[in-house]
Amino acid sequence: MTSRVPLIAGNWKMNLDHFQAIALIQKLSWTLDDAKHDYEKAEVAVFPPFTDLRTAQTLIESEKFKIGLGAQDVSRHSSGAFTGEVSGAFLSKLNVKYVLIGHSERRQYHSETDEILNAKVSAAWQNGLIPIICVGETLEELELQGQAAVPIAQALAALSGHETLGEFVIAYEPVWAIGTGKVATPAEAEAVAKALRAAITQEFGQESGNSRILYGGSVKANNVAGFLASGEVDGVLVGGASLDADEFAGIARFQKHIVL
Ligand code: 13P
Repeated sequence: MTSRVPLIAGNWKMNLDHFQAIALIQKLSWTLDDAKHDYEKAEVAVFPPFTDLRTAQTLIESEKFKIGLGAQDVSRHSSGAFTGEVSGAFLSKLNVKYVLIGHSERRQYHSETDEILNAKVSAAWQNGLIPIICVGETLEELELQGQAAVPIAQALAALSGHETLGEFVIAYEPVWAIGTGKVATPAEAEAVAKALRAAITQEFGQESGNSRILYGGSVKANNVAGFLASGEVDGVLVGGASLDADEFAGIARFQKHIVL
């Protein structure tokens, strides 16, 4: 298990065509490389669409600042007659390090259940990928069950039943805060991260409890520092703001904004 180096992850979702993707990776690499010393304390990773992973890998390898590469999904199967699916084995050949699992958009629009997501976590580990398990409550669930209950249940469901646990990251993304401009407060994100860590430690032991927990949902350069200041939240999963190189680099420079 790695130490809790902050992870600044950019989920592009289904945005940017091939040429726009090239332009963004190049601009981001240059921006990050220009002021490397500002970024060294964090790991920065981008999650382009599948069609751009190969190109992103090549571009990233030729740059000095090493941006990490992630995929937005992975098949629970390793190969065979599963039209349209992408195997973790294929991803790892492209030096993909992370894979998002159970993003709320996949739970909602692709009916991904806890069972399917649990199998995807296995598939990620079998192929040497680090799953970023996305959890979060809807507004209705928030009102009925409070803020931590659903994220904890989803995290435990994704992690349970495996013979051994590999490295993983949890991303707490309240559904009501995704792409809406509504942001959880730093205190709320801190409280949910603490509750998630306690539940995971109790169920799976101290080492798993030391996994990184990210916050996601309307994160911008001007609000990121608040989430990371307490030390409970170990990074951010960024959607819209990761499509702009300056804004995303601004988020990765979060240390500069933290006033202790
Ligand atoms: P926004 O940052 O656009 O709210 O998206 C968050 C998200 O869903 C990242 O996975």
